[in-house]
Amino acid sequence: MSFHRTAVMTVARAAELIRNARRGLALTGAGVSAESGIPTFRGEGGLWTQYDPVKVASIEYFMADPSAYWKVSKERGRVALAASPNAGHRALAALEASGRLVAVATQNTDGLHQDSGSRNVIELHGSGRTVMCLDCGNREARSEVQARLDVEMPPRCTHCGGIFLKPTVVLFGEPLPQPAIQQAFALAREADVMLVVGSSLVVYPAADLPLIALRSGAQLIVVNAEPTPFDELATVVVQGKSGKVLPEIAALIGG
Ligand code: OAD
Repeated sequence: MSFHRTAVMTVARAAELIRNARRGLALTGAGVSAESGIPTFRGEGGLWTQYDPVKVASIEYFMADPSAYWKVSKERGRVALAASPNAGHRALAALEASGRLVAVATQNTDGLHQDSGSRNVIELHGSGRTVMCLDCGNREARSEVQARLDVEMPPRCTHCGGIFLKPTVVLFGEPLPQPAIQQAFALAREADVMLVVGSSLVVYPAADLPLIALRSGAQLIVVNAEPTPFDELATVVVQGKSGKVLPEIAALIGG
């Protein structure tokens, strides 16, 4: 059987599963935003192929030298703030609007699911659009802080002058936001279909979600550009780009 025909069949099988879903849950990762121009962390061209994640994205290193974090975030933040949702984000929003998905749990902090119209977005790793001063608790829009990075490194709190301005994202070594985790775990336990998109599925506890869903009897669908450790547990694996595959699935399902 040709590769193309196999791919068409897996897309059709994924669409059939999602069409019949009553409590579908999506889990997304950096891959879903790759076609919006935001580089992934792992896989081809991933950020962690250039940088050591512990040195640029751990709370320990941030507290030791916030400017090391901001020097990397300067470019990534600029790109993320300028990015727009792609066809993959929009297809997920459409699947939620038509009642096939109850929510999108995301490891992404870029806000693009919300921008594309998804309503129930669970941000497992926080949001990169707000920055908080760890000294006084003052919050500022990320865009405001981002705009002064050229003249101020590390950026300083406009309220107290402190240098520990941290985006409201989860860094390595920090606890995840408990309400988000609890909500996502509860939806995974109730899910009949779990759709994972654009995640390497190597970071926990986010990668617990498909495990919890499988244990509760859900069917697992994986849409990813590269193989994942969960592929052998999945009912359907569609290897490809989410900006192409998800609209195909949504089109087969219809409104
Ligand atoms: P990763 O960067 O680990 O994985 C992204 C996956 O998306 C890879 O397997 C790619 O092959 C795949 N991919 C790339 N382009 C794609 C496309 N157009 N369509 C579909 N798939 C594509 O991202 P996450 O799994 O989200 O955490 O990473 C999890 C966490 O690790 C992140 O939230 C971040 C990171 O360190 C923190 O910073 C706490």
